[in-house]
Amino acid sequence: MGGWSAEREVSLSSGNGVADALESLGHKVTRIDMDRNVAQVLAGVRPDVVFNALHGTPGEDGTVQGMLDLMQIPYTHSGLVTSVIAIDKELTKQALVPHGIRMPEGTIVKSETLYDADPLPRPYVLKPINEGSSVGVAIVTESGNYGNPIGRDVKGPWQEFETLLAEPFIRGRELTVAIMGGDQNGDRALAVTELRPKSGFYDYDSKYTDGLTEHICPAEIPDDIAAAAMDMALEAHKLLGCKGTSRSDFRWDDERGVRGLYLLEVNTQPGMTPLSLVPEQAKYCGISYAELCDRIVKDAL
Ligand code: DAL
Ligand code: MG
Repeated sequence: MGGWSAEREVSLSSGNGVADALESLGHKVTRIDMDRNVAQVLAGVRPDVVFNALHGTPGEDGTVQGMLDLMQIPYTHSGLVTSVIAIDKELTKQALVPHGIRMPEGTIVKSETLYDADPLPRPYVLKPINEGSSVGVAIVTESGNYGNPIGRDVKGPWQEFETLLAEPFIRGRELTVAIMGGDQNGDRALAVTELRPKSGFYDYDSKYTDGLTEHICPAEIPDDIAAAAMDMALEAHKLLGCKGTSRSDFRWDDERGVRGLYLLEVNTQPGMTPLSLVPEQAKYCGISYAELCDRIVKDAL
């Protein structure tokens, strides 16, 4: 847990939650706040399994997975190749769109070019290609925007990132689906949650501040849309070769029926914080937080 990504605090919250839960089940847990000596620390601890509660770089992008592969230590969640692809929103599209998964058609942009021109007709979304928790994301609208991306005198979260993805903004609703791996009957989609952020933008603060977003689980949407979202999430999980658990995020343009449903990304290290969505969907399916953690561990062994 921890590490040095922009999602360090989120990861500490996930990791401590998981560690408490596993201890409550009688597992012997060593909490490691990852720094650059992690390989040495792990060589000393010699764990049976690593519960990877890292988010972002380098715990979600394949780096830590490669290290653990070399050390022959089993670990939770997805392996190296899956992680490398899924952390990169453009590579994810290249892997999934040819298989019929609908994702927004985006374009890669260098952030310095944004001073001069819009990369797409407004409204559009700018996002760093490999960050999580909406770090660095801006929604550029007709009349203004959430990150002030255009214009030399204004600062926006996007400016810290050299390479960004610009995607058309999909009006409508924000949905998410968790996949639980290693169930008796194989991988399965748990539920669909709709997120209704009070600010209108499900950004970092809306994700991690209690009360800023309404979570509706199960989402109050037509059955065919719920089924399509769950199918797409399961298909994406399988196509990418995800393990343990993953969570797929969607936008749904509710004026366009099922054709308005777009997968945005697949999270291979989804959050396990008190406000996170995978634990919430597991609970809805009758799986407690501790049991969820236990299942993820068992799937790794
Ligand atoms: N990136 C955060 C942790 C999530 O997907 O839940
Ligand atoms: Mg993400």
